[in-house]
Amino acid sequence: MADQMADSIQKRIEAMNRRVESIRQQDLYFYNQPVEELRGGSRVLVNGREMGMYASYSYLGLVGHPKINRAAQQAIEKYGTGTHGVRTLAGTLTIHRELEETIAAFKHAEDAITYSSGYVTNLTVVSTLVGRGDYVISDKLNHASIVDGCLMSGAKFLRFQHNDMEALEHRLKQVPDGCGKLVIADAVFSMDGDVIDFPKMVELCKKYRAWLMIDEAHSVGVLGERGTGIEEHFGMPNTIDIKMGTLSKTIPSVGGYVAGKKEVICYLRHASRAYIFSAALPPAQAAAAKAAFEVILEEPWRVKKLRENAALFINGLKQSGFDTMLTETAIVPILCGSDEAAFGMTRAAQRKGLFVLPVVSPAVPPGLARLRATVTAAHEKEEIEQAIELLSEVGKEVGVLSG
Ligand SMILES: Cc1ncc(COP(=O)(O)O)c(C=O)c1O
Repeated sequence: MADQMADSIQKRIEAMNRRVESIRQQDLYFYNQPVEELRGGSRVLVNGREMGMYASYSYLGLVGHPKINRAAQQAIEKYGTGTHGVRTLAGTLTIHRELEETIAAFKHAEDAITYSSGYVTNLTVVSTLVGRGDYVISDKLNHASIVDGCLMSGAKFLRFQHNDMEALEHRLKQVPDGCGKLVIADAVFSMDGDVIDFPKMVELCKKYRAWLMIDEAHSVGVLGERGTGIEEHFGMPNTIDIKMGTLSKTIPSVGGYVAGKKEVICYLRHASRAYIFSAALPPAQAAAAKAAFEVILEEPWRVKKLRENAALFINGLKQSGFDTMLTETAIVPILCGSDEAAFGMTRAAQRKGLFVLPVVSPAVPPGLARLRATVTAAHEKEEIEQAIELLSEVGKEVGVLSG
């Protein structure tokens, strides 16, 4: 038995290593490349070469913002670099409470709780809210951390076709009376950049008395006039029960949060295992995150500029003949088809000085491999126009575009 187990483990390791090695040998391996330096808001040094950054989650260009850097430095002076353990025991610092109050105010919620990553937040929150005997209903394209949380919870896990509200209703009808029901979706989908049909989803959750959890990893700073997210975007305040987000994308730090009613947050503080059994956020990161939420509101031009940049980038790529799928946001898929085409596009684009990255199966379905490009508020109009030109040259070179 032990031998058999070791054997299948060994096979799994070898299969992955063979795939990595074969991609490396073809000079098509682009993952795990260190960014050596930040050069202004939109350029980076990679492998000794300066490139335009088109793969960043820093949607508002806040990485390196002076107020945020200063907040982190001051927190180190005041608290040091670590905490005294888990939040429940000696790990809670004043800066954690200040951050949670800031998030609650930003998300128009009564309270908020933070965890050490967005991934961990989904894992622990979903599995603390639902369990055996409950139902969790999830969009098919939800992020892996949501899927893992659903699987870990032990609840009956139902999935519905991506952004298909009839399919969601069909699932809701399958839940027996009296069972706990939690519906979960990304606000903005991380591989496709499209936005969930939020108004219909809210209506269905009300009709079927289901709890609604929305992951705002890619919508904070992006959706809504002031960048506060999907409720603002659709003019539907106070409609999400569990407002989840990360501190690692628009917010240039690390960590995750949930904002919601006081009673929900109190429950999570005393029942979610990642809060009770894992160390608190480092003070510098908590302080940076708090300052970043403030900057979003103090510098509204960034949200506006991001919206303009995204429209410019998407329209330009479409006019050049690319298929950018259904994106409406800063995440812009450039469909390539095969994994090889996506790798080829990446290599050629990076040679021309554009730092873009490929997404291939199993992260996306086979045949839908793509570049997953992003634009930020740090890009200037001329840079984006040049990037579109370079990408269309590359598209023609590798055959993703005809002509
Ligand atoms: C939709 C979504 N949720 C959660 C996460 C996990 O967040 P983090 O990277 O902060 O752990 C990600 C990260 O890419 C994401 O895209």
